[in-house]
Amino acid sequence: MSKKYGVSIVGCGSIGALKPDDIDYAGGSNILTHAHEVYMNDHFYISSLIDKHKVKATNAGMKWDCLCSNDYAVLAHSRPDIVVIATPTRHHLESLINVFDHWKPEIIVMEKPCGENAAQCFEIMKLCVVKGVKLFVNYNRAYNPYFMGLKTKLRQEKVLSCTLTYNRGLIREASHFIQLCNMWFGKHQESYNISERFGMPSFADFSPEDTTDCVVMKYENCPQIFMIPIDGNECGLFEIDILTDAHRYMIVDNGNQIVTFPVDSTGTYGHYPTVKWNSRAKADTHLSSMGLRFLYRSILDSFISPNLHILCGGQDALAIHQIYEKEETCLH
Ligand SMILES: NC(=O)c1ccc[n+]([C@@H]2O[C@H](COP(=O)([O-])OP(=O)(O)OC[C@H]3O[C@@H](n4cnc5c(N)ncnc54)[C@H](O)[C@@H]3O)[C@@H](O)[C@H]2O)c1
Repeated sequence: MSKKYGVSIVGCGSIGALKPDDIDYAGGSNILTHAHEVYMNDHFYISSLIDKHKVKATNAGMKWDCLCSNDYAVLAHSRPDIVVIATPTRHHLESLINVFDHWKPEIIVMEKPCGENAAQCFEIMKLCVVKGVKLFVNYNRAYNPYFMGLKTKLRQEKVLSCTLTYNRGLIREASHFIQLCNMWFGKHQESYNISERFGMPSFADFSPEDTTDCVVMKYENCPQIFMIPIDGNECGLFEIDILTDAHRYMIVDNGNQIVTFPVDSTGTYGHYPTVKWNSRAKADTHLSSMGLRFLYRSILDSFISPNLHILCGGQDALAIHQIYEKEETCLH
């Protein structure tokens, strides 16, 4: 058996370790927490779980049968190869400083969005560079071969439009979409929040500080991108629809399935190409619930081949913060 890598998780909340027991549990196929993924993965083990709230740390330790503490000093005993920071976004930078006060792992995995703003993200990158520690940011679709495969296809086709229908926050949820646009469509050019400018719908369905707004954007390789807000109290969803000169790609079922339809030149209604609905092909059915599996596969690859490019590092997270902060885009 090859070496197993130790993982410590800081922040035992919803993505760290403690989703409700009936949704995320040892042996369940829906892997929604870092603790669950590491627990199930043959190449990793949980070295320790840390939460500033003792009760949460204890509950997480009991659930995943491992060392737990409310004190970062446990890192010096558990000596993890990887530390995951899954504390609330406003604590990302402070949590990283606390980690480095006690231990230097080989890899830091920072939950997205990696700091509250571009300045904090830059600080996080700098601290990791100074320590000589690799930084992975968990925008999990960046590690997913199906979404990466789509990038290759999109580069070979002429992209006509892309639409996101979403809720639960322009920053919290739509930042995942901006990561995908950065990966798929080249350089970001412009974006406008048209909820503010033209009184289009806006919903405070996650938090009043992070409303779900109507946004239009332009990228180097996509002339029109629309983000359509739906009130998350009515219906939760995250769906993407991309039209090119050759295909329509629909990412449906909350990101779980990519469905591809060809644009066919055999005219049905006239002598012009149309999207052929009946010849659709399903690509995969568990894209988002596999998200953490792909992140850890990528981490394993980087231990095996240390010079491998990190699919979503500090620079990628910084680019997303910068799009939100561009003055003329008014996304904030
Ligand atoms: N990649 C994704 O798809 C995804 C999904 C959900 C959340 N997130 C990100 O993960 C982070 C955590 O989100 P969440 O929903 O799990 O939050 P949460 O509030 O459910 O959990 C955070 C946990 O961190 C603990 N904590 C707070 N400050 C701490 C500190 N300084 N040191 C140690 N522990 C501390 C809290 O007690 C809590 O248990 C956020 O940055 C969020 O953006 C990412």
